[in-house]
Amino acid sequence: MFFSADHIVKCFEGNRVLSDVSLSARSGEILAISGDNGSGKSTLLNILAGLVLPDTGQVLTSTEPLEAGSTKLPGCHKLTGEVRLLFQFPRLFRGLTIEENVRAGLRDPLRENMLRSILPIPAARESGARFTVQQLLKKVDLTSLSNRYPHELSFGQRKLASVVQLLAGNPSVVLLDEPFAALDGDAAMTLTSLLAENQKAGAIAILVEHDLQHIDALKTPRKFRIEAGRIMPLSERGRS
Ligand SMILES: Nc1ncnc2c1ncn2[C@@H]1O[C@H](COP(=O)(O)OP(=O)(O)OP(=O)(O)O)[C@@H](O)[C@H]1O
Ligand SMILES: [Mg+2]
Repeated sequence: MFFSADHIVKCFEGNRVLSDVSLSARSGEILAISGDNGSGKSTLLNILAGLVLPDTGQVLTSTEPLEAGSTKLPGCHKLTGEVRLLFQFPRLFRGLTIEENVRAGLRDPLRENMLRSILPIPAARESGARFTVQQLLKKVDLTSLSNRYPHELSFGQRKLASVVQLLAGNPSVVLLDEPFAALDGDAAMTLTSLLAENQKAGAIAILVEHDLQHIDALKTPRKFRIEAGRIMPLSERGRS
């Protein structure tokens, strides 16, 4: 699985927020992107998730590798439901309990098969969930709160619930908008190990963080910074 953003440009009311941003990732990679407030991190993730259209450029997935020195994917496909986004502020279903919310994140094979019969989307990963809902809740220490409603949880707890809701469907690409913000040390470690498991399973994770400390803790070689609308590697081993 390969994922790329190709020469993305985005302006809001004449202000160029993203200028020619290209990036690419393959299965099992974590890309960590830092940037100041207002630098365009959420805008980039929203574009990668297909929620916001770029002015120019495109977001692509492919099962074939990149050509050397290129960000252009061969045999490319438009974005599919394989990509999931964790919003900067958790968005759980208000009328569902935490357990029901996580269950809602599971894939619906019937819907996927119908979609695949009418759309030229690439073969999805196995629909079978890697973990049960109960296992996921246990991983983030929310078992005892599973029957509560989102407004009965703290902000950090809602964030962790949103993360496992996202991971419940085994997405091939997870996009996380400041996932570490507002998490305490233990919760941050839990999130780091969830991301490591996700990486081991071959998924791609692209996350943005305001705080460089969180990015350093991830120990990924693919670190970037957005500045003045451009993306640049933070380490020598990074590539855009
Ligand atoms: N829908 C919109 N309409 C107009 N301007 C927008 C819109 N969305 C974002 N912007 C502007 O684009 C710029 C980038 O916003 P964005 O939310 O991507 O920043 P960010 O890096 O995620 O910031 P933060 O760290 O505060 O979350 C900001 O100047 C913002 O005001
Ligand atoms: Mg943001």
